[in-house]
Amino acid sequence: MVDSAAEDALAQAADAILAARHVAALTGAGLSVESGIPPFRGPGGLWTKHGEPPLNGFEEFLRDPKAAWQARLNPVGPMRELWKTLSKAAPNPGHRAFVDLEEMGLLRHLITQNVDDLHRAAGSAQLAEIHGNYTLVRCLSCGVRRHRDEISLDELPPICDACGGIVKSDTVSFGEPIPADVLETCQQIGSECDCMIVAGTSATVYPAAYFPLEVRERGGTLIEVNPHESELTPLCTISLRGPAGEILPDLVRQLRARRSN
Ligand code: APR
Repeated sequence: MVDSAAEDALAQAADAILAARHVAALTGAGLSVESGIPPFRGPGGLWTKHGEPPLNGFEEFLRDPKAAWQARLNPVGPMRELWKTLSKAAPNPGHRAFVDLEEMGLLRHLITQNVDDLHRAAGSAQLAEIHGNYTLVRCLSCGVRRHRDEISLDELPPICDACGGIVKSDTVSFGEPIPADVLETCQQIGSECDCMIVAGTSATVYPAAYFPLEVRERGGTLIEVNPHESELTPLCTISLRGPAGEILPDLVRQLRARRSN
């Protein structure tokens, strides 16, 4: 049950979404907390517990791709914890609420920083995975992506059978440029959006955190969905304080009610 102030904020968010021309969403690790995947920062965060990882992951991969693949296939420490939860996770009501908004024609695009495949598994179609997807691999030369089960790991690193380039996990490592195709899609979304739902992100990692700033600078509306304040809170038009798995279905219910009146 939400209190009256929260109810008002929810109503305000529903009105803003219905009044907008191009609604997009930016999601982060908080969306998947209710699927059993720990976030990185804030309460229970992996980096909160183990410290932020080194920012030279991509440089290390390029220095010795074989060793990087071996480490990836035999993860230790926080990454082992993360990969274990990823393989068991399923979409939660927060992911499904975004699919509802898309099917209602109220959400044009979703940019996610999550690599856990849960938005795709929930059925989001207009999806840009800016940090990649852990179920995919990508050739560093030609950019072709394949499902990780489609490549042989007999030889490491795997070699692209289309161009002979080195194949890496599609998840973007620290220090790795965002692949040009997905970056261009996200930049296009950021330039067209006049109302962005920012859910489950600390909004501290760029370029993803740049898109809501761009929307705000153009006078657009930012709707935050987060149980805690984030760096973005002061810029948000509306802050819906609570877990995405509860708030977003409530928002969908408000929108359906407005639609049926
Ligand atoms: N519902 C909504 N938000 C939640 C929930 C929840 N149930 N639980 C936690 N949160 C919020 C936290 O308050 C925090 O603001 O989700 C946010 C998670 O922040 P981070 O852990 O920093 O995740 P994210 O913003 O996605 O990190 C960005 O950093 O390490 C890199 O590549 C990694 O994509 C990741 C990027």
